[in-house]
Amino acid sequence: MAGKMNIPVILLTTTLFVLLFPLVPATIDKELQAAEMDMKLIKVRKDGTGDFLTVTDAIKSIPAGNTIRTIIWIGPGIYKEKILVDRFKHFVTFYGSKPVYPTLTFGDNAKKLGTFNSATVIVESNYFQAVNIVFQNSSPEPDGKELNGGQAVALRISGDKASFYNCKFIGFQDTLCDDKGNHFFTNCYIEGTVDFIFGNGKSLYLNTVINSIAKGLSAITAQARSTADEKSGFSFVHCNITGTGNTYLGRAWKQRAKVVFAYTYMGTAVHPEGWNNKGYKDRDKTLSYGEYKNYGPGAATKDRVTYSRTLTDEQAKPYLDQSYVGGASWLLPPPRLNDLKKIKSLKLGAKPSPKPLGSNPIPKSSPQ
Ligand SMILES: *[C@@H]1O[C@H](CO)[C@@H](O)[C@H](O)[C@H]1NC(C)=O
Repeated sequence: MAGKMNIPVILLTTTLFVLLFPLVPATIDKELQAAEMDMKLIKVRKDGTGDFLTVTDAIKSIPAGNTIRTIIWIGPGIYKEKILVDRFKHFVTFYGSKPVYPTLTFGDNAKKLGTFNSATVIVESNYFQAVNIVFQNSSPEPDGKELNGGQAVALRISGDKASFYNCKFIGFQDTLCDDKGNHFFTNCYIEGTVDFIFGNGKSLYLNTVINSIAKGLSAITAQARSTADEKSGFSFVHCNITGTGNTYLGRAWKQRAKVVFAYTYMGTAVHPEGWNNKGYKDRDKTLSYGEYKNYGPGAATKDRVTYSRTLTDEQAKPYLDQSYVGGASWLLPPPRLNDLKKIKSLKLGAKPSPKPLGSNPIPKSSPQ
């Protein structure tokens, strides 16, 4: 294969690699290393000066079986679209810019499509990144009487090894479906009423604001671990729980739900009991709900349910950093805007890009 590559292409690719990723650690997955050696930039702008007017059209331009990091830069504005990044389009980055992040919004809901498919943005592929993006579901708040649409998801992340930087997730019930795979969220903002972070993903949420807009009894997480061999769980570290209502940190959607809060500020919205077994008393024995060095008015543990655990240093350790989601094999800092400009000036992305050096095929099997 290398024989087909001409020398300038190899030099250019190598230069870019050194320029942009001088420190890609050797522990990073081979297919990700290869993908990061080349980059394609696609611009979406509402004013017609980009490559596409909609995010959907930009995604359509990415080939199935994509092997290179493809950055979809999204200009400011509100994009009313239902967006799917399917399981054949890996290595996609959504990138917005300060000061006004682009908002991706739609109004589907559970009554129409079921909770799972109500999401405004659905990502099924691996190595997805989002930087400076607002994900929103505009469906009205469920009133509990089935008169309106019910649960409405802003983002469902079903791919593995996804990361979110400075993103906002806006909705009411079931805002963020953290469905499956390893995920990393940092400097994000998640807003909702009931079960607004839910699913069977394995995720680290770092420095993230969790804003409850519930009016009464409610719950932040509904983690879905159900068997002892499942590795999933949500870990919140250095987060900030703010807002209204009387909200449990988690309620037991499934019998082995696993959630940890550490070094987190807990405001008055947090229910003194902390956690809820959803009426299944037998789940008290199998739930893994842990707390470690939290602070603020909602962090007092004296009225917590009996199965709430205050973790020891040793018990807390696996949850506190990126190793919880196996970050060493996939977590890279997001591209910086200056790097994007460099890519542009090198005119990559205008044509189909060359095969990466020593290309490692992406596994063809669908991510589970
Ligand atoms: C938590 O977030 C609220 C709202 O943004 C802010 O006012 C407050 O200072 C934050 N608290 C901490 C401890 O970060």
